Amino acid sequence: MEHIFKQGPSDQTLLLLHGTGGNERDLLPLAEMIAPNASILGVRGNILENGMPRFFRRLSEGVFDEEDLIFRTNELHQTINDLSERYKFKRDQVIAVGYSNGANIAASLLYHYKDSLKGAILFHAMVPLRGFTLPDLSEAPVYIGAGKRDPLIPAAETKELADELRKANAEVTEHWGEGGHELTRAEVEQAGIWYGEHFTS
Ligand code: MLT
Repeated sequence: MEHIFKQGPSDQTLLLLHGTGGNERDLLPLAEMIAPNASILGVRGNILENGMPRFFRRLSEGVFDEEDLIFRTNELHQTINDLSERYKFKRDQVIAVGYSNGANIAASLLYHYKDSLKGAILFHAMVPLRGFTLPDLSEAPVYIGAGKRDPLIPAAETKELADELRKANAEVTEHWGEGGHELTRAEVEQAGIWYGEHFTS
């Protein structure tokens, strides 16, 4: 997968996962705000939808191609494994930061693997799959940033995601803004505070 890697002084690596139409550099300013000392692995999704990069196919807005989502989740997991060997970052110290489509595949990584991620910051994420048994996530805290008026993601869906993660023993922190699907400075700043409480920065 297309990617960029920047070595930082701390042991942690932030895995940056963009929204639809973004690329591996989109979330660099967020990484700077959340964990300026972490290494950074920004990855670009392999799917193109009308020329816009995504991490997996969808059948329509909000309706995922589940077979492709599962395939792409495994592909991303393997890519992190391979790149940790190439760049010598600690594989068990990877924290995802995803927005929208990128948050959805980060959530799917959590749904599939007990220890692909050491934690995750999910901005405006949906429930990636339903009727799925999650692994034990007691070692993977999750921060969820959501908008009360998100036209793409009903509040009930965000709560469903948080509930599923909690049922799998994840420690979940929710941040609710008054707005919609856009990323807000407040939710990123709160994510930085949450990060500092959970990981060495
Ligand atoms: C998705 O397809 O992952 C969600 O609808 C979010 C988006 O990318 O628009």
